[in-house]
Amino acid sequence: MWEAIEPVGRDAGTGGYRRFAWTSQDHDLREWFAAECAARGLDLAEDRMGNQWAWWGDPDAAARIGDKGVVTGSHLDSVPAGGAFDGPLGVVSALAAVDALRERGFQPRRPIGVVNFVDEEGARFGVACAGSRVITGVLAPERARGLTDAAGTTMAEALRAAGRDPEAIGPDDEALGRIGAFVELHVEQGRGLVDLGQPVAVGTDIWPHGRWRLDLPGEANHAGTTRLGDRRDAMLACAETVLAARAAADRHGCLATIGKVQVQPGGVNAIPSHVTAWLDARGADEAAVRRAVADVAAHVESGGGEVAEESWTPTTRFDATLATRLRATLAEGGQADGGQPDGIPMLGTGAGHDAGILANAGIPTAMLFVRNPTGISHSPAEWAEENDCLAGVAALTAVLADLAGED
Ligand code: GLV
Ligand code: MN
Ligand code: MN
Repeated sequence: MWEAIEPVGRDAGTGGYRRFAWTSQDHDLREWFAAECAARGLDLAEDRMGNQWAWWGDPDAAARIGDKGVVTGSHLDSVPAGGAFDGPLGVVSALAAVDALRERGFQPRRPIGVVNFVDEEGARFGVACAGSRVITGVLAPERARGLTDAAGTTMAEALRAAGRDPEAIGPDDEALGRIGAFVELHVEQGRGLVDLGQPVAVGTDIWPHGRWRLDLPGEANHAGTTRLGDRRDAMLACAETVLAARAAADRHGCLATIGKVQVQPGGVNAIPSHVTAWLDARGADEAAVRRAVADVAAHVESGGGEVAEESWTPTTRFDATLATRLRATLAEGGQADGGQPDGIPMLGTGAGHDAGILANAGIPTAMLFVRNPTGISHSPAEWAEENDCLAGVAALTAVLADLAGED
């Protein structure tokens, strides 16, 4: 499976991936997912946003007897120049876990679902986890439809170009109602497991995080004839804002990043007339993140700029009962020294996930993290060793067997 998707959207030079939502790369990955599910006899259904759900067992028959499914999976899209593992590891591991269960003749009592969430990174339209946000009602369909990419294409236009009806998107209680528990396996995106010397951890929480659009005005003029004192250079305002964000993050003990800017008119010999910059801010403490963002906003507004919040995700705590159960399952399977559940590491993260959106929608949700020896993510340097990936699949297989129960 890994070899089949490895070339999709890969830049031969850097090894980085570009797999944006509703592009041809995304289409190819969705087709690959559908074919893998068909090859396993799983029933594929799409929800109102185009997230793909493949079922082993009938979730609607289960619902009639008051039961719900156990779902695992992740996403196949990427950030610009992203790594291979962020997202795909969870989808491939989900399918591999289904294979492992079948190989041992397992018959699930509850249906097992595998999901591919669309547009998790928000790399194209700016709002991360758009797939799960729309179906849970956190992102209104009319707002989603109007989001634009760098070329000015709206999400509605991109959906139409992908053969979909943009008017059909919206909250999907039917799709969500099938989920009794959701477990997302993901490559770890920091050094937590490297430092602990362990292959797999259970997730505890996701830091509160958000994105803000900063519009910084200037005045276009000639680079060779405009005296320094006469300039209104939007790029200078941007540079000062980057420094202000760094200082605010430092002051309030959180993280702030400006990783994307658009410059108008974008000429080497023209003073920038306008810069749009995007601020990403996160931290352990919601109030501290809010204070840092307020400081950056005050700085931008004092220079005549404007600030608009594009998304905000509050602190997410994964279901503690489910996490305890996962740890016990993993310990029983020999994944902890001495077989003790407290030998299974618990990790929080500053990275956002569809699992966080589902958890905040009230669905019992858990995460499994797989060691990343570089500790680097959102970069081609993101990595996971094969043995750790296999340990992840083994962990997920055990967890699905426990949660689904055997017939
Ligand atoms: C998603 O990976 C995010 O945390 O931005
Ligand atoms: Mn990511
Ligand atoms: Mn991810």
